[in-house]
Amino acid sequence: NYLSALGLLFGLALFGAGAATAAPPIVIRFSHVVEDNTPKGIAALEFKRLVEERTRGKVKVQVYPNSSLYKDREELEALQLGAVQMLAPSLAKFGQLGMRDFEVFDLPYIFPNRQVLKAVTQGEIGRELLAQLEDRGILGLAYWDNGFKVMSANTPIRLPVDLKGKRMRIQPSRVLEAQMEALGATPIPLAFSDVHTALESGLVDGTENPPSNLYSKKMHEVQKHVAVTNHGYLGYAVIVNRKFWNSLPADIRATLERSLVDATRKNDEEAEKLNSQALNKVRESKNTTVLNLDAAELQAWRKALEPVHRKMESRINKDLISRIRKAAA
Ligand code: LMR
Repeated sequence: NYLSALGLLFGLALFGAGAATAAPPIVIRFSHVVEDNTPKGIAALEFKRLVEERTRGKVKVQVYPNSSLYKDREELEALQLGAVQMLAPSLAKFGQLGMRDFEVFDLPYIFPNRQVLKAVTQGEIGRELLAQLEDRGILGLAYWDNGFKVMSANTPIRLPVDLKGKRMRIQPSRVLEAQMEALGATPIPLAFSDVHTALESGLVDGTENPPSNLYSKKMHEVQKHVAVTNHGYLGYAVIVNRKFWNSLPADIRATLERSLVDATRKNDEEAEKLNSQALNKVRESKNTTVLNLDAAELQAWRKALEPVHRKMESRINKDLISRIRKAAA
């Protein structure tokens, strides 16, 4: 009858309006292993903010910090399977995917300063390395910096010999393994989320990390001594699932890429700022001594770690190492 036909029409109209306004947003799940108050944590949230604002909510970015979704190794698998769409693992972790060239970033003292590092990541070498990820179903979109690493332990550290016999947590990387062995230490690869507990329980004696990671994870509460060795680099590659990225409408993708450029700038600014702040805060905690090394002491670290380069030349493309050395010369 007339009334129920009207009701049906009305219902259809409502349903239509509802469907038009409630087009489901595109969801990007961005998983990472560090705290929100780190360069990577802040940049991930900045990316979220910019994307949601610029796409007017058509894209939602869900950031999962602190290994709340996946630990180091699992997150790489999850990305390849499409369970998450975006990550920013440290460059040291790509060796696990069989991407040995990425291990070049772990070579001790390979970058004399940030300028050389930036020239490498922003130039041809950086692009070539990211392109290697494609046949793993991954697109590499940017590098995020987190500066240079310090050494920490519960006994004083001034010279390489001070780490002799120590059990040192490393990221899973053959180069970092060789680095600790060159110091006479035992390398123990552990997921980042397990480091604090491992230090506290004595499973490991010490570790290496940029100050921002050390401080934000409260490692200084379970480590008495830090030496500012700046012996190695820690940076990230921002990566996405290739199929997912290529399936996005071109205009959306362009907005995401523009937002990533801005988030990258934010990351790199925060990396400089937070790493120096973190060292001061660790000092102020009075729980931990922070030792700045003089030129002769730094030279001793350089010398002790030099053999790692020769040892790794058979693993990492020699040509790549010499191109980086040239950039640094
Ligand atoms: C680590 O495992 O030490 C770091 O890679 C953690 C991070 O993502 O900064």
